[in-house]
Amino acid sequence: MLEGDSIVIRRWQERDIEDSIVACADPEVVRWVPRIPTPYREQDAREFLEHAKRGWEESTAFDFAITERASGRTVGSIGVAVNGAVGEIGYFVFAGHRRRGIGEQALRLVSRWALEELGLARLQLTAMVGNVASAQLAEKVGFTREGVLRAWIENRGERADAIMFSLLPDEID
Ligand SMILES: CC(C)(COP(=O)(O)OP(=O)(O)OC[C@H]1O[C@@H](n2cnc3c(N)ncnc32)[C@H](O)[C@@H]1OP(=O)(O)O)[C@@H](O)C(=O)NCCC(=O)NCCS
Repeated sequence: MLEGDSIVIRRWQERDIEDSIVACADPEVVRWVPRIPTPYREQDAREFLEHAKRGWEESTAFDFAITERASGRTVGSIGVAVNGAVGEIGYFVFAGHRRRGIGEQALRLVSRWALEELGLARLQLTAMVGNVASAQLAEKVGFTREGVLRAWIENRGERADAIMFSLLPDEID
């Protein structure tokens, strides 16, 4: 469990299923977050829970629910997939909870945790070209924009260009 000013980050639980089905149907999530099935059904949410559980058990991926401290509600998703000393981070904040500093707190907390506790040498993230919110968020937290990877991401059957960002252990503030 990781704690920020207004959020608590914890592992996914069965009771998150209902909210995550609604969250994954949001057009902004469908547009910018690859690999989320559309439509997103209860079965998809259950498979994700299983995948998240396995990731933790095998130390290959660490998926967290972002919850609001005051209400206990689940308001976002953030996770790190690990390949050797490199971690890849992905996230989204549920519609209706954006622009309130949740993404920033979550990205800072999980980045620090991944670099310090997992001992990673590099944390990276990709945002599709045009995803201004995610790119600005990454830079605000201290990630460096490295360049555009052409046709890097498959999203909804199409290849999309992505911007690669990275954060090294001595760069987290
Ligand atoms: C990207 C996303 C996670 C940002 O989360 P958030 O909780 O709204 O972000 P915050 O409120 O913490 O904002 C932190 C900073 O990010 C940047 N930012 C966030 N939303 C922005 C927007 N719509 N336009 C421009 N910059 C934005 C700003 O620099 C902001 O700092 P500021 O408020 O001082 O200007 C959220 O917009 C989202 O879930 N989008 C849809 C899914 C997605 O794109 N996921 C990322 C895939 S790579």
